[in-house]
Amino acid sequence: MHRRITGKLVIATHNPGKLVEMRELLAPYGIEAVSAGELGLTEPDETGDSFLANARLKAVAAANGSELPAFADDSGLVVDALDGAPGIYSARWAGPSKDFTAAMTQIERLLQERGATTPDKRTAHFVSALCVAWPDGHIEDVEARIEGTLVWPPRGNAGFGYDPAFLPDGHHRTFGEMTSIEKHGLPPLGLGLSHRARAFVKLAEICLEPR
Ligand code: IMP
Repeated sequence: MHRRITGKLVIATHNPGKLVEMRELLAPYGIEAVSAGELGLTEPDETGDSFLANARLKAVAAANGSELPAFADDSGLVVDALDGAPGIYSARWAGPSKDFTAAMTQIERLLQERGATTPDKRTAHFVSALCVAWPDGHIEDVEARIEGTLVWPPRGNAGFGYDPAFLPDGHHRTFGEMTSIEKHGLPPLGLGLSHRARAFVKLAEICLEPR
């Protein structure tokens, strides 16, 4: 049996870019969201071997630490020509200074080394795994992706992380050139464009009620 989210929810992320997006996604449902950072919760090590395993680990740690239902995501960029890298290590490729220009440059260097110069060889997708964990151990989770290609040089200053290098299929602007409303592409404007919005639509179906 699926469980609905009611009342207060902890957002288990210390990433400001994701926090903004998650608050935007939750706003239409009237959920009061506090961040793990605001509650002084520490972030667990992401030791899982998949996006879903890491999302569960973060949500469970925050639910146990706060005694509130907790919402976590794990996400990343999967590049086909790089055998799925950076994948679950997408944040780590930017290093401690969170330098995503350096991470995108590194990906580009590896793509060039492999001769991946045409769009068909530069396919990639973003994945978002979302998990809600309750203090009594109940868990709901979902996963979604958005397919696209990597462009070089990166384009646009919007969004965060690898957004400027990612051109979603069927679009002519990168995520870095889209407003967050366009990037989410949520109803009533669309059925979900970004990996996070698509996963969120799935989660909303099972756990949320519009106001
Ligand atoms: P984690 O989910 O906290 O492990 O971090 C995943 C990393 O993947 C982020 O720090 C970003 O670098 C990248 N990433 C995930 N989602 C997005 C997105 O929507 N746009 C750009 N980069 C993303």
